[in-house]
Amino acid sequence: MTSVGQIEKRIVLISVAFALTLLALTVLALNLYHVGLPTCLTDIKPFEKGELITHSPTHYELHYVARMWMFEPEDVTVPAGSTVDIYLSSADVTHGLIMPGTDVNLMAVPGTVNYARVKFEKPRDYQVLCQEFCGTGHQAMATALHVVNRQGYRVGQQAPSAGPEPNDPGYRLIKAKRCLTCHSIDGKPRPGPTFKGLYGRREEMIDGSVVTVDDAYVRESIHEPKAKIVKGFRPVMPKTKMTDAETEEIIEYLKTLK
Ligand code: CUA
Repeated sequence: MTSVGQIEKRIVLISVAFALTLLALTVLALNLYHVGLPTCLTDIKPFEKGELITHSPTHYELHYVARMWMFEPEDVTVPAGSTVDIYLSSADVTHGLIMPGTDVNLMAVPGTVNYARVKFEKPRDYQVLCQEFCGTGHQAMATALHVVNRQGYRVGQQAPSAGPEPNDPGYRLIKAKRCLTCHSIDGKPRPGPTFKGLYGRREEMIDGSVVTVDDAYVRESIHEPKAKIVKGFRPVMPKTKMTDAETEEIIEYLKTLK
């Protein structure tokens, strides 16, 4: 007959064996397959601004800030043959960052910085996606990293689509009021309808009615965001404090986004 003591001993032995096997497999993966372990850098202060820093023509430091629901900076371009140190921080809730085609799979946790290093050998476009459910805009939370031919690369180069920031008071206003988190000005998909070509557009609402976007509609959308919801979108827009003068400024700017 086996006593309780012997059974306990056996259970402890089996658990220890499991733990050791796991440890051995991890060491094997690290050494044999050169699998990189993601690192949490506790000595680096979380940052609020995303940027690409050039250390040398072949070495870059990329600071990504994840926030609802975008990555900053967007559409980064680096030359082939570069080593990129990716640092990831979050400005609000927990997000994730994966870059299919690389080993990069990081968590974006508020108050911490996570790190991964990638060497990009060949020109190619990579997607940068959020892989942690972070709310209504999660599906649309994505950007791109472009690896281009070294010959054609200039330091500080932006993706062809990303022109200079518009120098318009209306643009500065929608940026300051954080409208650009959910609306693009160039037609890119986001949690909210794009502002490109919005003014004068006929939009179908979720209740089947059709609305032509004019001053009154924009005013209502700002002050009562949930009054009318465009088909295919969800009622997630928060109320934003906006004076009448600011609202008119924004309407004038939207008219220019043809
Ligand atoms: Cu951010 Cu999902």
